[in-house]
Amino acid sequence: MQDLEDGAVESGDLSSQAVFSGLRSDFWKKIISHESINSTNEFAMSLSLKGPESGTVIIADSQARGKGRMGRVWVSPPGGNIYMSAVLKPEIAVRDAAFLTVAAALACAYALKSEAGLNVNIKWPNDLMVCGKKIGGILTEIRSGHDKINFAVIGIGINVNSRSKDFPEELANIATSVKEVTGRYFSRSEIIAEVLNELERWYKKLIGDGSFLLLEEWKRLSCTIGKVVRVTLCGEVISGIAEDIDEEGMLVLRLASGERRRISSGDLTELR
Ligand code: BTN
Repeated sequence: MQDLEDGAVESGDLSSQAVFSGLRSDFWKKIISHESINSTNEFAMSLSLKGPESGTVIIADSQARGKGRMGRVWVSPPGGNIYMSAVLKPEIAVRDAAFLTVAAALACAYALKSEAGLNVNIKWPNDLMVCGKKIGGILTEIRSGHDKINFAVIGIGINVNSRSKDFPEELANIATSVKEVTGRYFSRSEIIAEVLNELERWYKKLIGDGSFLLLEEWKRLSCTIGKVVRVTLCGEVISGIAEDIDEEGMLVLRLASGERRRISSGDLTELR
């Protein structure tokens, strides 16, 4: 059964009905749309505590308190970008949760290729990059118990029709949008539908076959492997060559001393 709710965003290039008509299966059950919301992730988390079904998606035109990784704010003005969160109840161990984010990153990369012809790279762990600038990001939040995931909220932000002048000054040189790169406006509903079609595909691979294929594809699209990088984690700063991403999704760094360090998360800057 497919179900629409709210109808708050039913005009222009963003509507739950238009998203539904672009879906290729009934995997996604319900799309809840909001004109303005604090955070689609927060909303999805609060819904999930009340027990919504797997396959619920929240979309919004703007977010008042969009959340980024590492406690940052995700700037979320109205009218141009994608802010969406998908609720899933995966039967996987907590240690594999990082691959939900990988599934989402691959979904975005494939959707932006087929919808807009963009070649997206993934900067470890989950920044979506085009021409060296960030075009989107993913924030996955889970509730778990006894090494089982009760539910996961996969939050995706993609800059679609925004222009440089819409970004705050500190982001102007490091962020971009689909419009900036292609010079064209795009329907957010069509891109969201394709992201959901691709997320379904990669999620099913993860659940059915494990993380191997996702890891291979992640490495193929990685713009981090082979680079000299600096990673900041909990106040510690480590520099080295990013040699690999291991089977747990950790970044393998070779330090100047020759020592290898595996890093589970952090803030990464490419030095060269
Ligand atoms: C990052 O820091 O790169 C992750 C950004 C994730 C932003 C998205 S926008 C939709 C969803 N709701 C949020 O509050 N955050 C995520």
